[in-house]
Amino acid sequence: MARQRTSNAAPPAAPLSLQSLGRAGDLGALAHYADAAYYDLTYGARRQDVDHYVRRARELGGPVLEYGAGTGRITLPLARAGLEVTGVELARPMLQACEARLARAPRHLRGRVVLHQGDMRTLRLERRYRLVIAPFNVLLHLYTRQELAELLERVKEHLLPGGRFVFDVSVPQGEDLARDPERRYPAPDVRHPETGQVLGYAERFHYDPLRQLLLVWMEFSPRDGSPPWSVPLTHRQWFPQELEAALHHAGFVDQRWSADFTGEPPDANVDSLVVDCGLAPGP
Ligand SMILES: C[S@@+](CC[C@H](N)C(=O)[O-])C[C@H]1O[C@@H](n2cnc3c(N)ncnc32)[C@H](O)[C@@H]1O
Repeated sequence: MARQRTSNAAPPAAPLSLQSLGRAGDLGALAHYADAAYYDLTYGARRQDVDHYVRRARELGGPVLEYGAGTGRITLPLARAGLEVTGVELARPMLQACEARLARAPRHLRGRVVLHQGDMRTLRLERRYRLVIAPFNVLLHLYTRQELAELLERVKEHLLPGGRFVFDVSVPQGEDLARDPERRYPAPDVRHPETGQVLGYAERFHYDPLRQLLLVWMEFSPRDGSPPWSVPLTHRQWFPQELEAALHHAGFVDQRWSADFTGEPPDANVDSLVVDCGLAPGP
């Protein structure tokens, strides 16, 4: 799951209630992405998902539209594989990190990537794509049925005939949802990649079972005695059958589900569900 990071941003002035969170683009969706360097430190070593998206893009051919491109962890490998990629990203710090990474890349590779800052629910591009992807829990930042439906409409508008929509999401885990909100769950110290500060790290979990929102407070306590701060992250807990129904009602067909980038069918132990689907041929 995309979490455990730091931010130099000040903590929210007043404690945030779960009730005030749960809209696309709000603080619970974006605070976690204010520190792109830490994001890359924490998740930069993930390879299986990168390999999967590159393999799928090679099979289908480009162009590829990537929602929630982040710092380009998957965007650049796609371009390196010879594919044209359009990346859409809402968080400016993540997009800037992606642009910086691209600026350091060879010119031929830069020419294959176009980046847009924007909300995947609303951004309309004058182009259609063979493959639309939303890698690594991007859909968990859509908090309501309506927000998910908006995104699915955008996907449909941008797919070429015969194109595929591929995404992966963490499957809700009972033990996360049942955690005691009064308890701190400590994790090993971390060293910030830019400041070098050593930070104590702990998480708190609040789950709203009606809205199916999990709020994770990431708490950072500098070991040098500087003031601590906390970063909220809200993830909508999309249960697999809800996603299946939403895709079905939006007109997606041939849904292929696999587990944890293994290519195997999911079982009860699945962490990340990988969904690969298309649209029925038009009349
Ligand atoms: C867990 S990160 C994944 C980033 C990248 N796909 C990766 O695999 O490293 C989720 C990304 O989705 C972006 N995001 C969240 N809501 C968004 C929205 N409404 N429109 C576009 N991007 C969004 C976040 O800013 C963040 O960069």
